[in-house]
Amino acid sequence: MAIRNILKDDDPTLRKNSREVTRFDARLHQLLDDMKETMEDADGAGLAAPQVGVLRRVAVVATQDGIAELINPEIIGTEGEQEGLEGCLSFPGLYGIVKRPAKVTVRALDRHGEEFTLTGEGIVARAFCHEIDHLDGIVFTERAERILTPEELEELIGSRDDEADGSDRT
Ligand code: NI
Repeated sequence: MAIRNILKDDDPTLRKNSREVTRFDARLHQLLDDMKETMEDADGAGLAAPQVGVLRRVAVVATQDGIAELINPEIIGTEGEQEGLEGCLSFPGLYGIVKRPAKVTVRALDRHGEEFTLTGEGIVARAFCHEIDHLDGIVFTERAERILTPEELEELIGSRDDEADGSDRT
């Protein structure tokens, strides 16, 4: 396994559409293993392949049951709405208020090409949406109602020191 470089800010790769995965081979498995290691090393809640420069529809998301590997994921159901703070490993120090569904069900393939569905709530639902956006070349700053000012961010970190350690960046 290896930690890969996470592309930042205005890197054009982050605005490109990713292609579907058709081969479930050792190269894909290596990518997934590297992405999980890279996400954990960066203390993130999710990571999409274009963030490490690979334009393929692959994402990893931290869930209560471990890190989910999502290949060619699609949102097949949503419920409710949540408005909250969102960040991204590709935008260090930037947080915005983003509206997402409260509950999201995705259909995806696993590393062997087997289909499964997975439902997440709260930050997991948010991460599903955020990572699938990455696969479509959409970054959270485009979805954000507004971006927090440095003063607001400082205030927030002061008031939620247990949560604002960057673990909600995807
Ligand atoms: Ni992100």
